[in-house]
Amino acid sequence: MLSKCLFPVAGYGTRFLPATKAMPKEMLPLVNKPLVQYAVEEAIEAGLTEIGFVTGRGKRAIEDHFDTNFELEHQIAGTGKERYLDCVRKVIDEASFSYTRQGEMRGLGDAILQGQRLVGDEAFGVVLADDLCLSTELGVLGQMVQLFRQFRCTIVAVEEMPQDQIHKFGVIAGNEIRSDLYQVTNMIEKPTVAEAPSNLAIIGRYILTPDIFELLRETPQGKDGELQLTDALLAQAQRGCVLAYKFKGQRFDCGSVDGFVAATNHVYQNLYLRS
Ligand code: UTP
Repeated sequence: MLSKCLFPVAGYGTRFLPATKAMPKEMLPLVNKPLVQYAVEEAIEAGLTEIGFVTGRGKRAIEDHFDTNFELEHQIAGTGKERYLDCVRKVIDEASFSYTRQGEMRGLGDAILQGQRLVGDEAFGVVLADDLCLSTELGVLGQMVQLFRQFRCTIVAVEEMPQDQIHKFGVIAGNEIRSDLYQVTNMIEKPTVAEAPSNLAIIGRYILTPDIFELLRETPQGKDGELQLTDALLAQAQRGCVLAYKFKGQRFDCGSVDGFVAATNHVYQNLYLRS
């Protein structure tokens, strides 16, 4: 059974200051829709309708976004403006939302560990909303759910990355199972070009089996003094099986200004103008 999806959103979004001083970076809009809504829509399309946010200070706007605003609804009821709310109303109807706090920013691994109280003892999806993934067919998380049904193990999405970018990611080594799928044998967080075991970088989509929680608890602090998900995933790969999947679609790094602008232009031309 796979129905839950975690969204770690406790990060400060420092690269977007001052815009993110009082507003979560996940609420930055790509044209007329906040980043986080694209990500939640991808999860719903994949059948993961129980949405759990791991939040931090200053993230209240996300909660308000996925809740009914009665005053606003009343104000625009019966006017031509009602249709502007249709797409978020649909999301609110189709999914359930729960929230927990990450008390201290101790890294992505710690954020996921805090999410255990929302997902319990089941396999679950993880989406980093600042990676926007678009696909003309089934979304990236949907592709991964299909794979999970077949292989029943942890799956990470990977993308071939140019050398000058590789130091920003977790990078895998693996045995090729088929042209788009690898069984992971090694993983290094933010390697130098010389250390990188391949050009396959992990991006912000995961399906995790629940044994990851125990592994995270056993994982010592890693790079940058943070609890690194990559380190726990390596332990999982060594103990059992982790697959790396080269997804079909296009990814934009909306955590960086350049990626965010590229995504905005793409969404405006290809989604907004055609809707
Ligand atoms: P990043 O380090 O890329 O995002 O974390 P950030 O901290 O929000 O942005 P910058 O670097 O300051 O501009 C990747 C993802 O992991 C989450 C972030 O919210 C982001 O979605 N994260 C990271 C947590 O939820 N908790 C953490 O302790 C660390």
